[in-house]
Amino acid sequence: MGSRLGEDPVRPERRRACRQNERCDGQGSLKIKNTMIDLTDKVTLITGGSRGIGAACIELFADADSRVAFTYRKNQASASELIASLSPKRQIKAYAVDIESEQDIKSTVEKIITDFGKVDILVNNAGVWKYGKVDEMSLAQWEETIRINLTGAFLFVREVVPSMKKNKFGRIINISSTAGQRGEAFYSHYASSKGGMISFTKSLAAELAGSNINVNCVAPGWVETDMTSEVLSDKDYKTKVENEILVGRIALPKDIAGPVLFLASELARHINGEILNVNGGSVLCG
Ligand SMILES: NC(=O)c1ccc[n+]([C@@H]2O[C@H](COP(=O)([O-])OP(=O)(O)OC[C@H]3O[C@@H](n4cnc5c(N)ncnc54)[C@H](OP(=O)(O)O)[C@@H]3O)[C@@H](O)[C@H]2O)c1
Repeated sequence: MGSRLGEDPVRPERRRACRQNERCDGQGSLKIKNTMIDLTDKVTLITGGSRGIGAACIELFADADSRVAFTYRKNQASASELIASLSPKRQIKAYAVDIESEQDIKSTVEKIITDFGKVDILVNNAGVWKYGKVDEMSLAQWEETIRINLTGAFLFVREVVPSMKKNKFGRIINISSTAGQRGEAFYSHYASSKGGMISFTKSLAAELAGSNINVNCVAPGWVETDMTSEVLSDKDYKTKVENEILVGRIALPKDIAGPVLFLASELARHINGEILNVNGGSVLCG
């Protein structure tokens, strides 16, 4: 996500041109035939799966025949709806967890390993994005974001890595953000948590490679989800955001889920410690 957007007269034209091109309008269905991505026998744990990017990941991973355990905080209705929409052939199960509770995470991962036997792939996706001026932010506000977005990811990693080490296989994909690389005004706690996610990813990649556990990061730009719906309900602001994105549109959740699935697949087996930017070219990170 980004906060300060300048005018660029060239970009609206590029956006219009892009919209005439069916391949990049984002409205056409994203057809993926998983002939190369086969996660049969794999168990994937996705945090924050009840909505948005997490829900899109669940759909794609289930399509690739993975068994999927996912967590949510309190949105049981969405979690149940999602399960009902997926083929009953696949084992998909939801777990309510408060990511701010170490004990809750510990007991949830224990339950998942009892139910599924193992965890092969972890997608650390759950997160919050809350506005806060740095000179007005309470310590509690700062710590809440860090606890949910960064400490929560650490705790899930700590709890699943023994299962991965035992099976000598693991894939961890952490969801960061453009904010984690370039910062974000009025969201310094969020940007810090997402920057932390990047160095956490690189550290784990170095530490766990010997156990055949690859750790990578996906850093989305703007995505149309509940997280951004209020900000993007301002039509003028939304247009400005779109004008900043080279492909001319804001991502849909499935635009992020595809790269996450790729990183979990054998196609990406030689990628480790990498930050995959998925932002339509809005931030060109080196
Ligand atoms: N949307 C964007 O533009 C964007 C851009 C860059 C990065 N990201 C990152 O992508 C990830 C997913 O974002 P999203 O837009 O899909 O978010 P979202 O639609 O707001 O969904 C957030 C998910 O996280 C769960 N969650 C939130 N707080 C939790 C807590 N304390 N304990 C347990 N679960 C909790 C929610 O569960 P409930 O449904 O039960 O509340 C929900 O499943 C986040 O890490 C976000 O920072 C998003």
